Amino acid sequence: MTVESPSILDQYRRVRLASAVIVEPLEPEDCCIQSMPDVSPLKWHLAHTTWFFETFVLKPGLPGYQTPDSRYESLFNSYYNSVGQQFARSERGFLSRPTFAEVLEYRQHVDDAMQTLLAGDPNPSLLNVVELGVHHEQQHQELMLMDIKHVFSRNPLDPVYRERDTEEATDLIQFDWVEFESSLVKIGHSGTDFCFDNETPEHQVYVEKFELANRLTTCGEYLEFINDGGYERPEFWLSEGWRVVKDCGWDAPLYWQLQGDQWSVFTLAGLKELNPSEPVCHVSYYEADAFARWSQCWLPQESYWETAARAKESKGGSFLESGHLHPQPGGASVDCGALSQMFGDLWEWTRSPYIAYPGYRASRGALGEYNGKFMCNQMVLRGGCCATPESHFRLTYRNFYPAGARWPFTAIRLCRELG
Ligand code: AVJ
Ligand code: FE
Repeated sequence: MTVESPSILDQYRRVRLASAVIVEPLEPEDCCIQSMPDVSPLKWHLAHTTWFFETFVLKPGLPGYQTPDSRYESLFNSYYNSVGQQFARSERGFLSRPTFAEVLEYRQHVDDAMQTLLAGDPNPSLLNVVELGVHHEQQHQELMLMDIKHVFSRNPLDPVYRERDTEEATDLIQFDWVEFESSLVKIGHSGTDFCFDNETPEHQVYVEKFELANRLTTCGEYLEFINDGGYERPEFWLSEGWRVVKDCGWDAPLYWQLQGDQWSVFTLAGLKELNPSEPVCHVSYYEADAFARWSQCWLPQESYWETAARAKESKGGSFLESGHLHPQPGGASVDCGALSQMFGDLWEWTRSPYIAYPGYRASRGALGEYNGKFMCNQMVLRGGCCATPESHFRLTYRNFYPAGARWPFTAIRLCRELG
């Protein structure tokens, strides 16, 4: 694959600017908080994405490159054992130093060096790492929005990240099933466009006849599950899920609050009255699975999801660029047709474990640690969300989180097989 230098420099500049735009509404104080171990301070994200380019591009590829501080090597190393030691993830909130301003200086320092490198004639394998770094930073842009939402949700002042600038959509398509015949299908990425290694190789899978919900499960539908004693009745729950529900006292999705008899939901636009037409979000795999069982359905396998997605003509949907930063009711997005909300809005839990595709090979060296070593105890999610940059998304994109994670923008799409 050949990557043209001017276009990669352009991509680099654009993605670095997009991270700066995400922190623009924030104060340095906002960017220091770690509200739970899964959350990283936004300042840490800004530094870690910079560290990625420094570690994997500049140190090996730009002769004479000097780091502003050699201690950043472990401070901003997330999980690369082949690079060396890592500062503890759960203690990232202790890092009042380097300051926000010093992190911005670090970014500028690396941007200047990247400019020098890319203005020259870097070798193609280095350019591929730059491209990976660009997609890596986009992943962190979504994480930054997930994390600031969680940080703000723990503040009783209910801070607003950004006011809702668009009218709330009200139309909601009627629930329906969309049928797919049993067939031998291809899933996974092929071709020379960028993808993460975990999307390869493309391979054949036999799928049984299945039906997929034409839209995501709504808050109104999920409320029926709650009001039917969903969180008190063990018969719907996986053993592990039931334990987490009891241990953590879960009785509703993350960010739902009961005030009197009215549910409110914390959003990036502050606390809002629950809209029953919106898709339910911030549910764990356990909750998605319990809701599906209560509905006498299942969650789809990832091969079902991709089969259905490949049949769609438009890849449009409500991504980060739409500006909503919140899922929209099904039918209101640009993604119309038989299946709505397939792309954008929310990541859809599948019932597929995150494991290697047949023939998968992780890259050699440190970057082989990027995806492959997490292929245990996590579930696959598909479809992208309202915090995903649109250019970051692909039909074959496999996101993954542990079954208990609720802070990503997650959703439920029902599935059933008529055996
Ligand atoms: C794919 C979202 C689970 O958060 O660790 C960031 C993304 N990979 N840096 C994660 C990622 C490397 C990854 N997830
Ligand atoms: Fe990372």
